[in-house]
Amino acid sequence: MSRVLDDELTEAAHFLRDRDIEEAWAEAHILLAGALGIDRARLPAVDDVPDVARERFREFVRRRGETREPVAYILGRCEFYGLTFRTTPAALIPRPASETLVERALALRPGTALDVGTGSGAIAVVLAKHGVRVTATEMSDAALDLARENAASHGATIEFRKADLFVDGDFDLIVSNPPYVKSAEVDDQAPDLRHEPRLAFDGGPDGLREIRRLLAPARGPILIEVGAGQPPAVTDLALRAGFRDVRWWKDLLGIDRVLEAR
Ligand SMILES: C[S@@+](CC[C@H](N)C(=O)[O-])C[C@H]1O[C@@H](n2cnc3c(N)ncnc32)[C@H](O)[C@@H]1O
Repeated sequence: MSRVLDDELTEAAHFLRDRDIEEAWAEAHILLAGALGIDRARLPAVDDVPDVARERFREFVRRRGETREPVAYILGRCEFYGLTFRTTPAALIPRPASETLVERALALRPGTALDVGTGSGAIAVVLAKHGVRVTATEMSDAALDLARENAASHGATIEFRKADLFVDGDFDLIVSNPPYVKSAEVDDQAPDLRHEPRLAFDGGPDGLREIRRLLAPARGPILIEVGAGQPPAVTDLALRAGFRDVRWWKDLLGIDRVLEAR
């Protein structure tokens, strides 16, 4: 890597660090690779950056530092379960914690599945790419458009439906990463999260409104991702709803994250 490029990266990393971006150095590299349209691993081989890419890089860094726009929105894509998804403010950015849900869903080998609140479509697309016949519901038209685009770009056939939680039909498995933040806390979240749609976070006064509604029909097997600290209350809700068998799956940080109930 040339000296000039190194200086440019260092300056960007300092700018981001001064604005409290924790992973400033890594993000500067990711944004530069994005501006150049190359994989990050190829950066050390880059000698020169065309002016247009340099301007793009500076603009990316400015957006990240000044407005705290998430990297995934700036670049317009992110990785989830080994696939690349288009990401826009129309839908939540898929999170690594949801890979726990996907892993467990695949281990259950369902023939059919319903993904409730599909957002960008990431969970639905991964399941479909593994041979599951997926129906996916969502309340937001903008998110549904994005999910359809992601499904098309991966050649995944998914039945998308605008619906409040469920649609009629028999499914071997129901999966959902519902909104689970308390309404009063949505606006107090980290600045990065304020770029994502409120509908993706707002779980009502106690954060459990949609989880409660998902569990109410006692239809299983069901996998639901919940917030850290919510498992005791959610276990209680599941047992009261009539589920007999309840277990928890941990995310990559070792936190109980995904309810499996049947
Ligand atoms: C936490 S996001 C999860 C998005 C995606 N499944 C993922 O894991 O990245 C929750 C999603 O549920 C949608 N949603 C919220 N309430 C809903 C409801 N009652 N019925 C269907 N979808 C809903 C939101 O619009 C949002 O896209």
